[in-house]
Amino acid sequence: MRILGIETSCDETSAAVLSGAGDAVTLESLVILSQDIHRVFGGVVPEIASRQHLTAIMPVIDQALKDANATLADLDAIAVSHAPGLVGALLVGVAAAKGLAMTAGIPLVGVHHLEGHLFATSLEHADAVPPFIALLVSGGHTMLLDVPAWGDYELLGATRDDAAGEAFDKAAKLLGLPYPGGKHLEALALEGDPHRFRFTRPMLRRDQHLGDDDYFDMSFSGLKTAVMMSVKASTNLKSDAPHIARGFQDALTETLAEKTARAVRASGSIRVVLGGGVACNRSLQAALVDRCGPAVAVLAPSPRIATDNAAMIARAGLFHAERGNWAALDLAATSSALMPGIRRSPR
Ligand code: KG4
Ligand code: ZN
Repeated sequence: MRILGIETSCDETSAAVLSGAGDAVTLESLVILSQDIHRVFGGVVPEIASRQHLTAIMPVIDQALKDANATLADLDAIAVSHAPGLVGALLVGVAAAKGLAMTAGIPLVGVHHLEGHLFATSLEHADAVPPFIALLVSGGHTMLLDVPAWGDYELLGATRDDAAGEAFDKAAKLLGLPYPGGKHLEALALEGDPHRFRFTRPMLRRDQHLGDDDYFDMSFSGLKTAVMMSVKASTNLKSDAPHIARGFQDALTETLAEKTARAVRASGSIRVVLGGGVACNRSLQAALVDRCGPAVAVLAPSPRIATDNAAMIARAGLFHAERGNWAALDLAATSSALMPGIRRSPR
């Protein structure tokens, strides 16, 4: 099967062509156009994002088809990210996908953006396939999942407030770094002393037990407030900033790593698959390797595949297309929706 993927949930206009069957797939092309304009505003402005998608979407799709040496007639299906995300932004991708599917007379698949992130790493690591423990850490979501099979997702824990990427972006903003701040904060923290600012590891205590509500759950808004207090108290922010960045990053990544290691112990899993933009953070990857131990493989995507892209949408779309999970032409763009196949673990 040859499938076109389309992604417009936030501020990346992306299209990709993927072919194959089951887990044996080839990425034929991937085009990602990042909307730089939002840097000026220090965050994504939804109305501007929609308008930019509108002008970019057809050229980006045309380029992805051209790079794959394909035309619409060569496709078997079109997969589009339809939830969650900015509704106006999602609508542009969904409308384009519907128009092309109708024109070409081929079926449409609606993909949940986070399920796309879950499939992303398998595009680069052949063994990033179930069963595994998944840590999804993006700008909008933070989830710990037990994945016994594609399409079957047991939610072990999630953030109760800010997402990990959101915390990175807010801490970075407090430190005067550009948006999105995750990668800038990571770079700054490299020069930081780990002992100068030590922040409490949120929702992490030794006396927590399997079955406790907060055993796998996370919370990052307090950590952001702690960074704010340190910034306010600093008399020389320029020299303190790398140390604050280091203290923040250590607290956040160690918390994520310990929660993930708990999931590994509870499930007996030998694989951890990372997904979402924060997955490219080296400090997080190192903390996971350290906490999970040598018997566990920690698999992380490269930055291009970790952050929003259409290759992961095409990959998750292929899975659903093979099962005949087609979308009707009234497929809606939705700001929030449960990931298909997700179930809450019994407490
Ligand atoms: O998955 P993604 O591209 O978009 C969403 O679906 O949200 O994730 C974007 C997030 C942003 O918060 C960004 O700051 C963060 O991923 N991020 C990082 C790094 N690279 C991107 N956070 C920490 N370290 C990084 N190297
Ligand atoms: Zn994303």
